[in-house]
Amino acid sequence: MLHGPLRPMSSLFVEQSPPMSATEQLLNRQEIATDLFLDVREDAGVSEAEYQSYRKRIEALLRRENAVVVAHYYTDPWIQRLAEQTGGYVSDSLEMARFGRDHSATTLVVAGVRFMGETAKILTPDKRVLMPTLEATCSLDIGCPSDEFSRFCDAHPDRTVVVYANTSAAVKARADWVVTSSIAVDVVDHLADRGEKVLWAPDRHLGSYVQAQTQADMLLWDGACIVHEEFRASGIRDLKRVYPDAAVLAHPESPAAVLELADRVGSTSQIIAAAASMPQSTFIVATDRGLMYKLEQQVPHKRFLEAPTAGRGAHCYSCAHCPWMAMNQLDNLLHCLEAASNEIRVPREVAKAAMRPLDRMLGFRRAQQPSAVA
Ligand code: 13P
Ligand code: SF4
Repeated sequence: MLHGPLRPMSSLFVEQSPPMSATEQLLNRQEIATDLFLDVREDAGVSEAEYQSYRKRIEALLRRENAVVVAHYYTDPWIQRLAEQTGGYVSDSLEMARFGRDHSATTLVVAGVRFMGETAKILTPDKRVLMPTLEATCSLDIGCPSDEFSRFCDAHPDRTVVVYANTSAAVKARADWVVTSSIAVDVVDHLADRGEKVLWAPDRHLGSYVQAQTQADMLLWDGACIVHEEFRASGIRDLKRVYPDAAVLAHPESPAAVLELADRVGSTSQIIAAAASMPQSTFIVATDRGLMYKLEQQVPHKRFLEAPTAGRGAHCYSCAHCPWMAMNQLDNLLHCLEAASNEIRVPREVAKAAMRPLDRMLGFRRAQQPSAVA
């Protein structure tokens, strides 16, 4: 599926790295993340009775605080279920941003990772945005520090800066466009049609995929998602031998070799839509296993298999579940509401600058789909 020449993979980024490069920092954080994930997994067992007790207390607090829960598909099933059963929302990062902005609640409880909380705050500065934990970050965000990124942009003033939503507010503030995985190909295609050259950050796999789809002139930052990078083409091929009729659905943060095997590549929402509309009854899914909850709920008559992360060269740092998404639990969600803690704050000037490229993305979506609320 992927063809077309790759542009240089941010050689300047490598040249400009300080002694402890972003990649080294990332690897360091990966080890920490793995430990955290294992801890979380050990503690994650919640009985139905415990869930109902949490739900009752959280529901009362949501009413008291005029708040609503907005959760990402990768959070644990208990969190997704809680959001759904309390009038909140579960979706991909683009729809989370839109839902939070348009909802009448004055407090948003964002169950996801930090950039999602920041995006909500930037789009709705008058709302209070709380998160179950402020520690939940993203390897793409960590791997793209704003000062290094700013130098990279300065070195390429002729390029339109397009950043993935999985970045800090400060990185967004330096961008011309923000995109999510559901809209990245369309936006870059539009820029390429206008003859613009693109500087892309931070996910190199998504960047390569977008470039192959659009043939745009793209210079890529060298970042990756620790979850999706672990999927292995060899493992998927092995699974296909057992399930030859299964279709492969992959998130574009996965490596090119995995995307080449995919019958459909798309964002989390696009994967769910593909599973519902494609004729196959079995699917191998290369994305965070948190999505299984929604897939099984929305497409109950079909079968979903997790794409393997094992195989040659695999590390299984995350074993297909984002360690930072897994930090969102019922107890810390309850606590952040009770104590009104973990409030997201974005400096006014940064928020103002980051609002422009975010608004552009939402405006682009509205022009594409006039029925969308954006
Ligand atoms: P979506 O934009 O598809 O929700 O993905 C966000 C993300 O973090 C993927 O790893
Ligand atoms: Fe970031 Fe990957 Fe986690 Fe998504 S799954 S939040 S890209 S580390």
